[in-house]
Amino acid sequence: MTTQAWDAYWADPTTTNSFAFDYTETEGPYGTLNQFWLDVFAAFKDSDIVVDLAAGNGALATLFTQSRTELNCAAWVNIDSATAKPDKLHDKITFAQQNIEQLELADASVDHFVSMYGFEYSDITKSFSQIVRCLKPHGRFAIFMHHPDAIITKQSKVSITAFNQVLKDPFWQTIHTCERLSFPELKNRLLQNLNLHLQSVATEGQDDIKLIGQNIFYLLQSNNNVGWCVAQLQKLRQGILLQVERLTQQIAAAETASMLTQKIVLDNQVAWQITTLDFQGSTLGYCFTGSKN
Ligand SMILES: C[S@@+](CC[C@H](N)C(=O)[O-])C[C@H]1O[C@@H](n2cnc3c(N)ncnc32)[C@H](O)[C@@H]1O
Repeated sequence: MTTQAWDAYWADPTTTNSFAFDYTETEGPYGTLNQFWLDVFAAFKDSDIVVDLAAGNGALATLFTQSRTELNCAAWVNIDSATAKPDKLHDKITFAQQNIEQLELADASVDHFVSMYGFEYSDITKSFSQIVRCLKPHGRFAIFMHHPDAIITKQSKVSITAFNQVLKDPFWQTIHTCERLSFPELKNRLLQNLNLHLQSVATEGQDDIKLIGQNIFYLLQSNNNVGWCVAQLQKLRQGILLQVERLTQQIAAAETASMLTQKIVLDNQVAWQITTLDFQGSTLGYCFTGSKN
């Protein structure tokens, strides 16, 4: 399992699409999602041990702390395989870097497992057997997962096509050779290239090309040293490659979630249900909830 794409994502302080921000919304699709989680949190008891699987930067813990003055749990552990560095939210909330397919937790030690767009990124056959092993009798799990028909999944497919168009462009593959250009020449070549991609990409993918354009404008405005700009453009290309990797993982995760009942052992050790959470007729994702008998 490679964690490089997520290591880079959580390490970047300029990451703006952190899910944590959206989780605090009270209206729209994220408001619906928040309500799902607030209902889950309401069932916690003060003595409970809560574990967030594939927690990233701790978006769920952020929502939990922001939604109450007293934390109704004994401990909340964020677990992720990437080197995420969540802000210190509360003494009860800690972070552990682990693969959720091989949890370093004692048998029957957890009251609640939660996971938000995370569990389904792993080998769920292994991760679910870890959940069953580590849950206390009557312990519960609430797992919210990507769905192949969700807007977020469809948008990711569009973005991958747009980003790949740029990544495969010979101009971007040989961007290092632009070091010999003058600054105005470099600027012109970049603008021509962006226009070309804007015109040839499908309408739905234009926002992704514009996002790349914004990054380019920002770096051209910061410094007119060609060597520096080319180094930054190479970094930008690397960042787009990693974004494609994450989006590809996300689409695979949605497929995994859609095959959940074929992939995991749902025997009489657990009571469970799978539903979808919808907003205005559109699916946001799968809710996989249950308890250990
Ligand atoms: C889409 S992010 C979601 C993070 C967080 N739950 C959120 O909502 O912001 C998916 C996360 O799953 C983590 N992940 C993927 N496979 C994993 C595994 N086998 N064990 C632990 N974490 C994993 C990645 O490192 C990444 O941080």
